[in-house]
Amino acid sequence: MQSPNVSSTSGAVPAPLSPEAPVVGRLPDLLDDAVVAAWAASGAPLVELLRTAWVPGRLTGFRRGGRDAVLVTHPRHVHQVLGVGGDRFVKRAHRARPLVGNGVISAAGEEWRSQRRLLQAPFTGRGIQRWEHHIAGAARAIADRWAERARTGEPADLAEDAQFFTVDTIWRSLTDHPLDPATYEDLAGVQDIVAALPADVGGGAELPAPAAAALAALDERMHRAIADARARHTAGSAGTGLLFRLLDAAESDARYDDRLIRDELVTLLVAGYESSARTLTWVFVLLDRHPEVARRAAGDPSAIEGVLAETLRLYPTGWLLPRQAEDDAWLDGVRVPAGTDVLVCPYLTHRDPGVWPDPDAFLPDRFPPRTPPPPGAYLPFGIGPRACLGTRFAMREMEVLLGLLLPRFAIEAAAPAGEPVFGLNLRPDGPFLAHVRARG
Ligand code: HEM
Repeated sequence: MQSPNVSSTSGAVPAPLSPEAPVVGRLPDLLDDAVVAAWAASGAPLVELLRTAWVPGRLTGFRRGGRDAVLVTHPRHVHQVLGVGGDRFVKRAHRARPLVGNGVISAAGEEWRSQRRLLQAPFTGRGIQRWEHHIAGAARAIADRWAERARTGEPADLAEDAQFFTVDTIWRSLTDHPLDPATYEDLAGVQDIVAALPADVGGGAELPAPAAAALAALDERMHRAIADARARHTAGSAGTGLLFRLLDAAESDARYDDRLIRDELVTLLVAGYESSARTLTWVFVLLDRHPEVARRAAGDPSAIEGVLAETLRLYPTGWLLPRQAEDDAWLDGVRVPAGTDVLVCPYLTHRDPGVWPDPDAFLPDRFPPRTPPPPGAYLPFGIGPRACLGTRFAMREMEVLLGLLLPRFAIEAAAPAGEPVFGLNLRPDGPFLAHVRARG
């Protein structure tokens, strides 16, 4: 049976986006309800259904859990939803709301706009320079760890190193304090909470007990950090960390109570460590599989940029960017009724053979591309008004770490990396156990 609501003029050569577009006929690529039911009964992850639904270049509608959904992968459609359609296709209650509350990643409307404005300056332009010494300090700590590993020859979990590094950089940038082991333990509990969150827009918001306990420990840590910073703020010895910026805001804007400050801290922590840590883990996995690329990238900043860009193409940690049509909307002449889940999937867009030749191959030399890809074709950091606030911060921290490690060390897997897990983030399953060897 076809979905009753999503209709189209033509799937092959869609007309430009227009609110006046006529509603003629049905979307030709609708997924049969029986296919969706078989997927639901199998308990397979959402990505399996999306892979089945995916026809490069097309919009595919389906009905799931009593709701209409449409899969969006073609660059032009992606651009229409996230770029020019940023105010028509909105974030529904964010999947991570039980964790991040009303932080900038989940807030909406005017509240989101003012929260984003406050955080914009420290993450763009020259603002980014203030984090250089924090990033360098955290990178040196990992290089020391790897020097010790190279000496003993013991394998270790490089996913854990990536995570320690990114939690350390963001914690230093929030509070001005380097990360100590006890704080790390509480902050890293975030991954248990993230793992318990639904990968999907339609999921429930209740957290299982262990995740709820991890959330309580995290909250306790955040409130202590706020109290500590407030004492310094009041004593006139505020630092440069973002937490002090939030306390400044609280002096003139009553919305910034301790709850919202906590929500922004957790948002920046979660958004700021998880994606970068998983991306760095994918880099380590890919460099182990392609030692010739690792050798070329050692000491060559532009080769490192290529490695990062290509890793983010193959494994965009934000693999699914769900939106909802607030009112009836049109995508290339296809009517998308109000309330439809609009599932933008960078993971599939990045593997569209029409845009990326040999899409599954790891070819860092494709970056920088001779002709820039069309808008919407490459979006590891999202596009449009809700694009990543931390793009520059993330690129900088990853470049600095790899710039320090790759000339000194080679990576050699001790066990194969796990299969990709498509949760809230896209990550390899389990640890990535590897040796690090000093380069001769
Ligand atoms: C490799 C690292 C990273 C990747 C791949 C990444 C990816 C993304 C993506 C795809 C989005 C858009 C989500 C959507 O449209 O639904 C996003 C949003 C966001 N990211 Fe990142 N991110 C990374 C690192 C960071 C860092 C380091 C920070 C902060 C220090 C950060 C802060 C944010 C925030 C606050 C938002 C929400 C922006 C808004 O809704 O206005 N991200 N990120």
